Amino acid sequence: MASLRATQLLCILGSVLFADASADGSSSLHRKRLANDPLQYVDPLVGASNGGNVFPGASLPYGMAKAVADTNSGSNQGGFTLDGSPVTGFSMMHDSGTGGSPSLGNFPLFAYTSCAGGDINGCAYPKKDRVNYGSFSNTSVSAKPGVFSIGLDTGITVNMTTTQHTALFQFTFPPDGTVSGTTKGPNNESVPISYTGPVQPVIFQDLSDLSNSRQDNATIHVDETTGRITGSGRFLPSFGSGSYIMYFCTDFQGADLLDAGVYVNNRASTDVNNITISRSINGYPLPGGAFVRFTSGAQPITARTATSFISAEQACAHAEREIPAFDFAGVAAAATEIWRKKMSPIQVSFGNQTANATTDTDTVLRNFYSGIYRTMINPQNYTGENPLWTSSEPYYDSFYCIWDLFRSQTPFLTLVDPDALSEMIRSLIDTYRHQGWLPDCRMSLCKGFTQGGSNADNVLADAYAKGLGGGINWQDAYAAVVKDAEVEPYDWSSEGRGGLDSWKALGYIPVADFDYKGFGTMTRSVSRTLEYSYNDYCVAQMAGGGTDNTASLGSAADAAKYLERSANWKNLYKKDETSTWFNGTDTGFTGFFQPRNLNGTWYYQDPLACSNPDTTSVCSLQNTGRETFESSLWEYGFFVPHDQAALIGLYGGDDAFVQRLDYLHESGIIYIGNEPSFLTVYQYHYAGRPGLSAQRAHTYVPAFFAPTADGLPGNDDSGAMGSFVAFTMMGLFPNPGQNVYLIIPPFFESVQVTHPQTGKTAVIRSTNFDAAYKAVFIQSATLDGKPYTKSWLDHSFFTEGRELVLTLGTTESATWGRQPEDRPPSVSDYPAGNSTQS
Ligand SMILES: *[C@@H]1O[C@H](CO)[C@@H](O)[C@H](O)[C@H]1NC(C)=O
Ligand SMILES: *[C@@H]1O[C@H](CO)[C@@H](O)[C@H](O)[C@H]1NC(C)=O
Ligand SMILES: *[C@@H]1O[C@H](CO)[C@@H](O)[C@H](O)[C@H]1NC(C)=O
Ligand SMILES: *[C@@H]1O[C@H](CO)[C@@H](O)[C@H](O)[C@H]1NC(C)=O
Ligand SMILES: *[C@@H]1O[C@H](CO)[C@@H](O)[C@H](O)[C@H]1NC(C)=O
Ligand SMILES: *[C@@H]1O[C@H](CO)[C@@H](O)[C@H](O)[C@H]1NC(C)=O
Ligand SMILES: *[C@@H]1O[C@H](CO)[C@@H](O)[C@H](O)[C@H]1NC(C)=O
Ligand SMILES: *[C@@H]1O[C@H](CO)[C@@H](O)[C@H](O)[C@H]1NC(C)=O
Ligand SMILES: *[C@@H]1O[C@H](CO)[C@@H](O)[C@H](O)[C@H]1NC(C)=O
Ligand SMILES: *[C@@H]1O[C@H](CO)[C@@H](O)[C@H](O)[C@H]1NC(C)=O
Ligand SMILES: *[C@@H]1O[C@H](CO)[C@@H](O)[C@H](O)[C@H]1NC(C)=O
Repeated sequence: MASLRATQLLCILGSVLFADASADGSSSLHRKRLANDPLQYVDPLVGASNGGNVFPGASLPYGMAKAVADTNSGSNQGGFTLDGSPVTGFSMMHDSGTGGSPSLGNFPLFAYTSCAGGDINGCAYPKKDRVNYGSFSNTSVSAKPGVFSIGLDTGITVNMTTTQHTALFQFTFPPDGTVSGTTKGPNNESVPISYTGPVQPVIFQDLSDLSNSRQDNATIHVDETTGRITGSGRFLPSFGSGSYIMYFCTDFQGADLLDAGVYVNNRASTDVNNITISRSINGYPLPGGAFVRFTSGAQPITARTATSFISAEQACAHAEREIPAFDFAGVAAAATEIWRKKMSPIQVSFGNQTANATTDTDTVLRNFYSGIYRTMINPQNYTGENPLWTSSEPYYDSFYCIWDLFRSQTPFLTLVDPDALSEMIRSLIDTYRHQGWLPDCRMSLCKGFTQGGSNADNVLADAYAKGLGGGINWQDAYAAVVKDAEVEPYDWSSEGRGGLDSWKALGYIPVADFDYKGFGTMTRSVSRTLEYSYNDYCVAQMAGGGTDNTASLGSAADAAKYLERSANWKNLYKKDETSTWFNGTDTGFTGFFQPRNLNGTWYYQDPLACSNPDTTSVCSLQNTGRETFESSLWEYGFFVPHDQAALIGLYGGDDAFVQRLDYLHESGIIYIGNEPSFLTVYQYHYAGRPGLSAQRAHTYVPAFFAPTADGLPGNDDSGAMGSFVAFTMMGLFPNPGQNVYLIIPPFFESVQVTHPQTGKTAVIRSTNFDAAYKAVFIQSATLDGKPYTKSWLDHSFFTEGRELVLTLGTTESATWGRQPEDRPPSVSDYPAGNSTQS
């Protein structure tokens, strides 16, 4: 999903230094060192501005507790931003990289050193008022895997770390009771606010979330003797339907309690300690919460807060079990260690080729390992926290959305964390068992909106083709994907596929379909046709008709049926369609996908509509009426992941295909900040030109994917962009749903990937490696010592720990990977005789 576009591209090349990245720097010292502790290169702040929307705070891998400072930025989907927006609170539930409305951010804490005049009514409570005390300087921000800290201009420093369900927020207060902020004057000018009171720190917890979505009544209770705050509220998911209830439990340690109570709007009282607060009459949630006040701020005060979707008691139990002693240093060290272990399967080296290189190898390493890190933030492990059904299977949430993450994020986890991926897949299948369908998007216990096809099919097929184990019930998995292919859900904006009658009868999704069986947004007929075609290919693979080496899950007849349906994309190919720019200049290409009516006649969509240069529409779900989703017919013109050979034939052979792909990349049509572009970087492989894929990959990384806060070209989308960077830099890119990795030279002299289950280490090594990346063309290769001319590998490379040795050169090879038999597999045979040797 992409929520922002062209404007982001303007600032991509700005390389702003920010707090921790530069502190990590010392690049000359590290230049030749092996990256044997990858953790030092992870910068969670990559993507914290310019629409990356990443969650840059403290979390365990897939952790439910995600602690960070929330800002009031218009781009605060991940909570925190580094765009100059002030902090509104400190909360512990977040998503990462998403578009849509901001997710979660429930029950934020905030703190003051004192209230004006020592009166509890002298403090500002609602979000819109406390934000005036939330400014900070970028250099006060520090982020490392598992820990985050920030210093507000009020002098309060907040350090945070987490366990699976619990966060610790450690507040350090300035020595005097002066509190300063800035508010806006009548002409938006900055007006200073300042007051003094006795040093009696106040920490309060608010019954709100990031998008102010609280529904009906929320409750809060503060215990006047212990300071424990508990409560709950009902909120809305950020890109889906329904609602969810969340509970919390907060305890404090570090100073004696002075008093406690509740507040509503800007009025507080110590006389009341228990309130139920309504959504207010006009629908906007009435601000309210509870506070505790302390006798001293001389020592840091630590808030331990946990959440649960089951009960406040369960939240308290998590907190007491996971962090019994409020030991900040110990919890932070444990989180760091868990991350260090997660990052350890992948080791890279620049060899001794870089002594004189101009490349800043630290920047390359930070880009790579920060990308890997982001693949393990979402989805989130909510096992034991699912109130919707009873099951002994794992439960994961925040598949946000599978349309984004099937392309490279879940394939990446197959390599580095197959155990976690197995649990995620079991959770998807269990969701099918209990809610009837695999999700295409899911967040906060709710169904998210489907963007195109039933793309969980692709995730399952990918894992199946790669032999993923871990207790997955593959028969149920197969039943789930067959249901997607055969049964139309009533609400196909949340699951499955719409228009299945037409799909089966006509072989495409028509514009303005006649669909009386289900309900959904009647747009995207071309992109849905293309995605359903690929989904059916994935079903066929699982049935047993694919190229993988796993057992058949379906009958041969089923495999044949779905393979046949997977060719439906051809029904929307209009061979005489042309494409002209908005100024009337012909692009020079003929033959594009086009929408079709129910009666078989053609409808028309400009092939450049919804492309990056089309400023009239981003073609998202809210933006109805277009026949492609978030991308143009030009870019979707390459989305036939299973049959590039047939597509190459339709486009006029290898050279014509390469020219068209070049035009996509060079004329500004492509939007690299959204996922449909990912595979197009590598599709030259299918025309026998793997060197051109390598050249493209090196154009986009690091120019559009750099390890800076503003370094991502679009929403990270749960870690999708992170996985694109990680795969690209390690020199292998998946065609997801297939047992295929496309080979380019890695950005390192050597890459070693130790499979966490088999313990075997796969190695890619380059002869003639050049850290300035002039030698990006593979001249020849060996696999386990034997000559290897194919431009792709399968997953056994990783599970069996094979060794690929590449010999690089500065010009494209006339032979390596170029013959039809050396190209990655396609359903059709490659067209013969069109492979020119340029
Ligand atoms: C640092 O803060 C300023 C505003 O105070 C902001 O405009 C800038 O983008 C921030 N730097 C980074 C790297 O985000
Ligand atoms: C909070 O974190 C910052 C940055 O890592 C560190 O300098 C500071 O000492 C920490 N504060 C406490 C009280 O541990
Ligand atoms: C002040 O800023 C707000 C939002 O940024 C804007 O809507 C408003 O028009 C501005 N007012 C003036 C007087 O500039
Ligand atoms: C909200 O609380 C008020 C006061 O206790 C009660 O009258 C009302 O029924 C509650 N509404 C809901 C939706 O629970
Ligand atoms: C606080 O309110 C809750 C919900 O209204 C109620 O169940 C509980 O008994 C109250 N507790 C106290 C101590 O009044
Ligand atoms: C390092 O350089 C030496 C001498 O040039 C060479 O023999 C050796 O193979 C190189 N090692 C690596 C890891 O590239
Ligand atoms: C680096 O440069 C120095 C001085 O120009 C030269 O002697 C040395 O051989 C170079 N090393 C490599 C690995 O290119
Ligand atoms: C997910 O959470 C459950 C319950 O806390 C735990 O048993 C399991 O190990 C977790 N999975 C991963 C991959 O961390
Ligand atoms: C029309 O726009 C295209 C794409 O921006 C550009 O390449 C071409 O030169 C333009 N033609 C004219 C006549 O301005
Ligand atoms: C086919 O359907 C389209 C759209 O409803 C309509 O405009 C067109 O006239 C129809 N053509 C024929 C031949 O029925
Ligand atoms: C080869 O290319 C020519 C024109 O470029 C085309 O007419 C022909 O159909 C292609 N052959 C195959 C088998 O695709």
